[in-house]
Amino acid sequence: MSDDPSTGSGHGTEIFTASGIGRTFGSGRNQVTAVEDVSFALVEKEITTIVGESGSGKSTIARMVLGLLPVSSGTMTFDGKDVTKLSTAARIAYWRDVQAVFQDPFSSFNQFFTVRRLLNRSLRMLDRVSAKERLEEALGHVGMDLSVLDRFPHQLSGGQRQRIMIARALMLRPRLLIADEATSMLDASLRVNILNVLTDLRDELGMTVLFITHDIGQACYLADKVLVMEKGILVEQGPTDDVIFNPQHEYTQRLLADVPRLHESA
Ligand SMILES: Nc1ncnc2c1ncn2[C@@H]1O[C@H](COP(=O)(O)OP(=O)(O)OP(=O)(O)O)[C@@H](O)[C@H]1O
Ligand SMILES: [Mg+2]
Repeated sequence: MSDDPSTGSGHGTEIFTASGIGRTFGSGRNQVTAVEDVSFALVEKEITTIVGESGSGKSTIARMVLGLLPVSSGTMTFDGKDVTKLSTAARIAYWRDVQAVFQDPFSSFNQFFTVRRLLNRSLRMLDRVSAKERLEEALGHVGMDLSVLDRFPHQLSGGQRQRIMIARALMLRPRLLIADEATSMLDASLRVNILNVLTDLRDELGMTVLFITHDIGQACYLADKVLVMEKGILVEQGPTDDVIFNPQHEYTQRLLADVPRLHESA
């Protein structure tokens, strides 16, 4: 089961597995293979990052894990159950267990809606008594309180918006949180703040996180394990320290060479 005692991060229960998953788009001469034969496991209470250049297939993997995009090949399990063939009822349960935060919280905010209204949509899935509690709890996890509820999007910074999106995901108490380029729009200090929110969620709630970025610096800052994608292929994966200090694949070495500060401080 546990393949990695070196991180010292605990039990090593695999909450999610992907075996040989692939995805193609289009057909005939227009066919694009976005992801090919990718296998990995997400260990409970760990942060795993997928890193790779634009177009390498990261978001395609995220969307397959989320069940928003069917796999063209391979299988995936959550809690040992095959999630590529879920009944409607099981799919709804899965969509609570696995929540996501995406790149641009602007785009999903209606400018004329308050934060309360935005969050209410998720609360509708809960009964009224637990709703307020959940709301307070979720905002607390991202360092905010109920006073933010009457604000409009333009009254919030990019970092605050992204923390609200994380709170929205947390209200359903997911077991796996996927963040796809969730920090890409933020400047450096706000980015570190969000990365720290994610590590707190892991440490305090035991959240399992799949974090997706094109920036190997962020991947290394945050992750227990790193998966490196190049043109749809998973070229390397391992505990973060192994990948940083002993990268096996030439593509990983190239990505690391672009992060001079990482080497200097190592
Ligand atoms: N719906 C689609 N139809 C056709 N091709 C697609 C579709 N979605 C993704 N692709 C292609 O699949 C490949 C992988 O795309 P994907 O969005 O997964 O990359 P990414 O690693 O997330 O990139 P980025 O860092 O820019 O977000 C790309 O070549 C892309 O053009
Ligand atoms: Mg993407």
